[in-house]
Amino acid sequence: MAMTTTTPSQSHSQPLPVILLLFLLLSAAIPHLILEAAAAEQDEQQPITLADCPNKCGNMSIPYPFGMKPGCFREGFQVTCNDSFNPHRAYLANSGAYQHIFEEHDRVEPEWSQVWNRSLDNTAFELIDISIANGEARAYGAVSSVCSQNRNDYISNNQMMHLGNKISPFLLSTERNVLIGVGWRVQIRVYSHLWSPSVPGNSQKELMLSCISDLMEPQFLAFATNGSCKGRGCCEAALPEALPITVLGLAFTMSQTNTLFKTNPCSYAMVVESLWYNFSTPDMYGYEVLPNRYPRGVPFVIDFSIPNGSCPAKGQPPPPDYACVSGNSSCANATSGQGYVCKCLDHYDGNPYIVNGCQDINECKLRDLYPCSADGVCKNRLGGYDCPCKPGMKGDGIKGTCADKFPIAARVILGGIGGVFVIAAISLLILLHKEKKKTREFYEKNGGRTLEKANFIKLFEKEKLKPILKSSNFIGKGAFGEVYKGLLDNEQVAVKKPITGSVLENEQFANEVIIQSQIIHKNIVRLVGCCLEVDAPILVYEFLCNGSLDDILHDNRKVPLNLGVRLSIAAESADGLVYMHSKTSTKILHGDVKPANILLDDKFVPKISDFGISRLIARDIQHTGSIIGDMSYMDPVYLQTGLLTEKSDVYSFGVVILELISRKKATHSDGGSLVNNFLEAYKKEKKATPLFDEEIAVTEDLEILDSLASIAVECLNLDVDQRPWMTDVAERLIILDRSRKSQFTLHVPV
Ligand SMILES: *[C@@H]1O[C@H](CO)[C@@H](O)[C@H](O)[C@H]1NC(C)=O
Ligand SMILES: *[C@@H]1O[C@H](CO)[C@@H](O)[C@H](O)[C@H]1NC(C)=O
Ligand SMILES: *[C@@H]1O[C@H](CO)[C@@H](O)[C@H](O)[C@H]1NC(C)=O
Ligand SMILES: *[C@@H]1O[C@H](CO)[C@@H](O)[C@H](O)[C@H]1NC(C)=O
Ligand SMILES: *[C@@H]1O[C@H](CO)[C@@H](O)[C@H](O)[C@H]1NC(C)=O
Ligand SMILES: *[C@@H]1O[C@H](CO)[C@@H](O)[C@H](O)[C@H]1NC(C)=O
Ligand SMILES: *[C@@H]1O[C@H](CO)[C@@H](O)[C@H](O)[C@H]1NC(C)=O
Ligand SMILES: *[C@@H]1O[C@H](CO)[C@@H](O)[C@H](O)[C@H]1NC(C)=O
Repeated sequence: MAMTTTTPSQSHSQPLPVILLLFLLLSAAIPHLILEAAAAEQDEQQPITLADCPNKCGNMSIPYPFGMKPGCFREGFQVTCNDSFNPHRAYLANSGAYQHIFEEHDRVEPEWSQVWNRSLDNTAFELIDISIANGEARAYGAVSSVCSQNRNDYISNNQMMHLGNKISPFLLSTERNVLIGVGWRVQIRVYSHLWSPSVPGNSQKELMLSCISDLMEPQFLAFATNGSCKGRGCCEAALPEALPITVLGLAFTMSQTNTLFKTNPCSYAMVVESLWYNFSTPDMYGYEVLPNRYPRGVPFVIDFSIPNGSCPAKGQPPPPDYACVSGNSSCANATSGQGYVCKCLDHYDGNPYIVNGCQDINECKLRDLYPCSADGVCKNRLGGYDCPCKPGMKGDGIKGTCADKFPIAARVILGGIGGVFVIAAISLLILLHKEKKKTREFYEKNGGRTLEKANFIKLFEKEKLKPILKSSNFIGKGAFGEVYKGLLDNEQVAVKKPITGSVLENEQFANEVIIQSQIIHKNIVRLVGCCLEVDAPILVYEFLCNGSLDDILHDNRKVPLNLGVRLSIAAESADGLVYMHSKTSTKILHGDVKPANILLDDKFVPKISDFGISRLIARDIQHTGSIIGDMSYMDPVYLQTGLLTEKSDVYSFGVVILELISRKKATHSDGGSLVNNFLEAYKKEKKATPLFDEEIAVTEDLEILDSLASIAVECLNLDVDQRPWMTDVAERLIILDRSRKSQFTLHVPV
């Protein structure tokens, strides 16, 4: 079970490519039938007018109910076409603007003279376009102005706009137009009333719209900014909603004389299509700038409706002369409350005001408005369209969700097997993903980032170590965990797999590993690399074939160990410890010096193992309160104070020397510990000869053994200050070793 989840099983990953291959073959074999709507669309021009009626003035379409010839328009919708222009221009008959031009002189309170000069009658609005679908038309409207030649005299040119006659089909669109004022000082009066040409001012409503632009003093002119119409040289106001304006008068109110007449002689007012006008500061300067710039006028929007009657209630007969005569059309009461408008139903367009005016839309030709993805087959139908996905695909072409599906044939063939494989493959992928994520997490947790920077240490992938971590390679178990022997990159290595759940902390661990990997000394076991992709990091060391000093001394007593070998083991081990203790950058203490941590290579050269790591372990164990490991080697001072020093390692090394000369375990059970026995013997006789290993306790070597014993005793001094430094110990051992060797060579010829 555990194997299937942790192994990225190569055998399981096979089915996926096989399925894909099958799928590709099968789907390629099925021809994609691309069904194009074969029916050639007739692009004939839809009639927009009554029979035999002209449909254009110049290049402008004039759809019914608008019309030009008698009998071609509905009452109120007459259009006149002026052919003295090229192209011809269309005008809305029965509508237009009166221009009220008058002069005001000496406009100083309390009296001023007003001279009524002329009133230009009924200048019809020129049409820009007509939209039946929107129920609106656009036309050019005039700009009202007031200009002053001097401080006190004005010429006003005020527009009275009227839309239609009596019951008019036209209303000024309050939604699509805005009131704009431009100039140094503008306040606009708006008159609205039902059309009554004979008596201006009769039955009128007067509205004061709050469109105020006020720049009384020259210095304020600087406040006007291009594009901004917020009361600084330009003002804008919405038209009052739901106000049936058929006649609109624009006028100006000014209570003071124009102090800026030299630079800013004119102000303007206009009802204009919203968003059309862009204020620019030069518009405030000069004489009649806007009327001169827009001689045909400025565009404004007119709503039209059928003014007589309303839409029939459900089941009721339509009103007389009902306008919505086309099939596939609907009626909507006008929002102004007066009359109604006709619309084609959705997916139909054309003219609802004529018989058969509403025609089905071929949506397939209008993909922008009616989406159908490239993977769909667009099919027009009456009142709508369909867009099924191409064969071999499923989804919705209108929503654009067409996607390949398993062909039916493939599904039959693969059937359940395929499904099972797919599920298996997916679960495998999920498992692999999870595993990968976990691997990464462990890697980070174990300080992978820090170690990446240290390029002298190899970071092994766990897959690479997996073959080594099997029981046949198991060589031992220590405080750190299990040790396996193996071959990695053609090098014999010892792989140390920690007991899972050991709480080595990431950064700390990483730092220790970095330090260790930097240490290159003949008497220290070399750390080759590590693997961080597992919960507790695995360490890879060089492999030493003769095992530990502990094995050689105690478990494998058949191996003869003469004093020379023991002495050089002691001297060289000491050298290793000195090297670590004397490293300038980071002094490294071992913390757990003991024969089990002194390994021997094929030539019995000792190498100290588990630097730092063992200390971490030891500390960790202390933290968790359960002390394992050999108390027999631990400095009692360290155990008391918890403070690990170089002298702690010196103490432990003293115990190692004792073991070397006695070949007895420090934890020897017969009558107390080796250290105590030794110290007692030494205290009594200044000698410990009975405790020496018989194998080496030959008379000519007793002197050397005594020296070794005395070094050990010094190391074991409970007064830390009395203990020698490791360098002293090493020096003395090296001298002993050399003297023994020279003594030996002297003896040989004899
Ligand atoms: C009508 O013709 C004029 C001049 O030929 C052109 O500028 C204008 O865009 C045309 N309008 C339409 C709606 O085609
Ligand atoms: C056409 O426009 C010209 C120039 O504005 C005008 O003189 C003429 O009377 C107009 N014709 C008609 C039929 O309105
Ligand atoms: C207005 O009429 C007066 C005299 O009645 C005349 O002097 C003046 O020029 C006229 N102004 C305009 C703009 O027609
Ligand atoms: C506004 O734009 C016009 C050009 O369109 C420019 O001449 C004028 O200086 C600009 N005014 C400001 C205040 O930037
Ligand atoms: C004003 O700006 C808008 C947006 O840039 C543009 O559509 C419009 O035509 C402009 N109006 C004029 C009169 O240039
Ligand atoms: C509209 O109604 C008026 C009377 O309310 C009537 O005289 C006129 O003929 C009607 N017009 C149409 C087009 O039905
Ligand atoms: C239109 O208005 C009339 C009368 O106000 C009403 O009877 C009718 O139901 C309305 N029709 C619609 C479609 O709202
Ligand atoms: C709707 O229009 C279609 C043609 O586009 C026509 O065949 C159908 O009869 C029309 N329906 C009605 C109710 O007129």
